Amino acid sequence: MRALQWEGVNKLAVGTVPDPELRNPGDVIVRVTRTVTCGSDLHLLGGYIPFMEKGDVLGHEFLGEIVEAGPDVRNHRVGDRVVVSSFISCGNCWYCDQKLYSLCENGNTNPAITETLWGHAPSGCFGYSHAMGGNAGSHAEYIRVPFADVGAFTVPDAVSDERALFASDSASTGWMGADLGGVKPGDVVAVWGAGAVGQMAARAATLLGAARVIVIDRLENRLQQVEQHIGAETLNYEQTDVGGELRERSGGRGPDVCIEAVGMEAHAPGAQFAYDQIKQQLRLQTDRPIAVREAIHACRKGGSVFVLGVYAGFVDKFPLGALMNKGLTVRGAQMHGQRYIPMLLDRMAKGELVTEHLATHVLPLDRAPEGYRMFKEKEDGCVRAVFLP
Ligand SMILES: NC(=O)c1ccc[n+]([C@@H]2O[C@H](COP(=O)([O-])OP(=O)(O)OC[C@H]3O[C@@H](n4cnc5c(N)ncnc54)[C@H](O)[C@@H]3O)[C@@H](O)[C@H]2O)c1
Ligand SMILES: [Zn+2]
Ligand SMILES: [Zn+2]
Repeated sequence: MRALQWEGVNKLAVGTVPDPELRNPGDVIVRVTRTVTCGSDLHLLGGYIPFMEKGDVLGHEFLGEIVEAGPDVRNHRVGDRVVVSSFISCGNCWYCDQKLYSLCENGNTNPAITETLWGHAPSGCFGYSHAMGGNAGSHAEYIRVPFADVGAFTVPDAVSDERALFASDSASTGWMGADLGGVKPGDVVAVWGAGAVGQMAARAATLLGAARVIVIDRLENRLQQVEQHIGAETLNYEQTDVGGELRERSGGRGPDVCIEAVGMEAHAPGAQFAYDQIKQQLRLQTDRPIAVREAIHACRKGGSVFVLGVYAGFVDKFPLGALMNKGLTVRGAQMHGQRYIPMLLDRMAKGELVTEHLATHVLPLDRAPEGYRMFKEKEDGCVRAVFLP
């Protein structure tokens, strides 16, 4: 089958790989009908997460049709149109019982790397390096989905492919940031990053009753999407003092909840960016934590900061003093998709959650390398490139 393969840092190619086969009785094989780029893939492409091997198939946000099901699969049958959580979870371990699905003990068949790096291994993810299980990704004609009864969800007829696709990863991630960040009715919420993840976090905050939601970025086309499709306020960080403006819009206190949806390749105007980028390139730090620093600084006393952006290792100049003295709660996670996807599909069916505008570019899989270039360089207003295998 055809698949998009990682060929080295900033090198992608479409090639031919063996078709996937059922491996365990709870697996299904999905014929991928839509698969989409994610900001997380850029970290792999740029070599910031160094556990890729030449030939690995990328992609973790996707939708498709079940074409083969193992004998233990109960909730699905061949022909079902399903959206699949990007993180793989068994549904049976202690963490799955707590609904902390991305921390599942059985979803990552290669836990040694992250156990050494972080003390414990999170679960596995599709197409997300050998540190996250070495699973083949979704930018391909077919994909094997383990634990299909837990991670694959039948899409209701009322929800289009174009909309349901984003329940797989970006909408679940955004919802988790607002939910586990503790957004309550009446809160002021600030979101760093107006990519798909930040936009979905902002929409979730609104649906959870936030009084004001403010999204921060520098890309005007993305900020326009936020105003038009998400119904949140915006702030261009190149044009304003973010901390001062957020205070102004939150009765002088600062936002109650700050959600960071930028990640380790953040930009900043001024010297801080050069400092972080040089240290990252010299491997003196692995991540550029610019937006996390700003969120911690801006958050009101006693407020909560949720880190959705992906970080891999160590950072410099982490504001531990502010965190401690301001009494903040700082939390982060990889997405617990299984916890949110049914609710999100329901909201999508009711029209409360729209996502189609995120798919600014739709291309055949053969043009995926070009799609990634546009997505990485934010060319032509690219927010997400969707591939049709
Ligand atoms: N936790 C999870 O499970 C999970 C799931 C999906 C994605 N992610 C991560 O979320 C992050 C965002 O993903 P995305 O797909 O929306 O990425 P994206 O690259 O499309 O968007 C990131 C946005 O952040 C903006 N940005 C850069 N520096 C900024 C700054 N200093 N302040 C404010 N905005 C800034 C960029 O202009 C861009 O619009 C990535 O790190 C990705 O890896 C995490
Ligand atoms: Zn993702
Ligand atoms: Zn589990």
